[in-house]
Amino acid sequence: MKRVLVTGGAGFIGSNLVARMLKERDHYEVVVLDSLSYSANLENLAPFEDDPRYSFIRADVGDDAAVTEAVKGCDGVLHLAAESHVDRSIMDPAPFVASNTVGTQRLLEAWRRGPGADGLPLVYVSTDEVYGSLSLDNPDERFTESSPLEPNSAYSASKAGGDLFARAYHHTFGLNVMTTRCSNNFGPFQFPEKVIPLFVTNLIEGEKVPLYGDGKNVRDWIHVDDHAEGIIATLEKGRPGEVYNLGADNERSNLELTHAILEILGHGEEMIKYVPDRLGHDRRYAIDSSKAASDLGWKAQWSAWPGALESTVAWYKDNEAWWRSVKSGAYRDYYAKQYGGR
Ligand code: NAD
Ligand code: DAU
Repeated sequence: MKRVLVTGGAGFIGSNLVARMLKERDHYEVVVLDSLSYSANLENLAPFEDDPRYSFIRADVGDDAAVTEAVKGCDGVLHLAAESHVDRSIMDPAPFVASNTVGTQRLLEAWRRGPGADGLPLVYVSTDEVYGSLSLDNPDERFTESSPLEPNSAYSASKAGGDLFARAYHHTFGLNVMTTRCSNNFGPFQFPEKVIPLFVTNLIEGEKVPLYGDGKNVRDWIHVDDHAEGIIATLEKGRPGEVYNLGADNERSNLELTHAILEILGHGEEMIKYVPDRLGHDRRYAIDSSKAASDLGWKAQWSAWPGALESTVAWYKDNEAWWRSVKSGAYRDYYAKQYGGR
């Protein structure tokens, strides 16, 4: 039995990851550490409340005392806790630095002084956004692990800060740290500020979907279960100090994505509302994950289009209570601030 600390385990990817670790495997005991920020939802983890292999600690990754205590007795760490939304980082960058850069350094330090001293692994879950943006004119170009770090938003800059600390802790202290850089995730339990759950739930509510700019920006979509398996494969088979890109070769422009969602839900073009572009909007992401395939034996299996999108839309249709409770209170204030003037 391996005891693994999962930071950010009450968020979208974290809760799907915890579910895979507990339901699909019997050799993990999972300790979730999460500050329960706006995007966390303990309902996502409710099925495991009585599972003796699951426990929960409410704490901030930047809280030295709490994290030092939490890592005790762990055989590994999967570090996902982060501020995750680009638009919020445009409104207010400071919390991104605190959680994503400083928080990551604090966690690395606690691990170095704790079980990490014995060579046990920590996987830092970063993002493809640290590489910046690709052009639409060069469709064969994709991010590899040796692409330069050229983050363009406060979100990606703060994540890249974490990447650099992960690298430094390996180089200087010999810490067994690995970094994953995955593309855009979709699936159940995603907070409806991100484009897919936002557009799907807006349409179910009869609201238009706010498409930024010309809609030609491209994202490389991967199902969250594939990302979760990539993180587990990195923990189990990754080599210390290495970086692994994770992607599903599934590039779509935002217009293509929007049309696909409209079609699944039986709506027409008139439900699109073109709104002014996101500041500094990255044009295109595309991931080369051949290293993860050769070194980890990992390959995306659940991201096939349009089936994976259809089943995700079906999940939001079947789980209205989940997102209706999320789309209230503070969410409404955020929505008005973000889209009100557009
Ligand atoms: P999310 O916002 O749904 O979840 C983030 C979780 O982290 C929440 O439960 C939140 O409460 C917790 N958290 C935030 N700050 C914290 C702090 N200081 N201390 C403790 N807990 C804190 O985000 P997500 O989409 O599930 O992303 C998870 C991770 O995966 C992030 O590190 C993100 O950068 C990375 N990632 C996301 C994607 C994507 O497409 N969503 C793709 C690649 C990488
Ligand atoms: O690439 C990985 C990253 O993907 C993760 O690291 C981030 O945590 C995650 O949020 C995601 O970032 P994006 O900015 O790409 O995702 P988002 O869902 O916010 O936007 C996807 C695309 O849709 C982007 O080009 C902007 C556009 N968009 C988004 C929103 C919220 C719209 O056109 N309208 C919208 O209202």
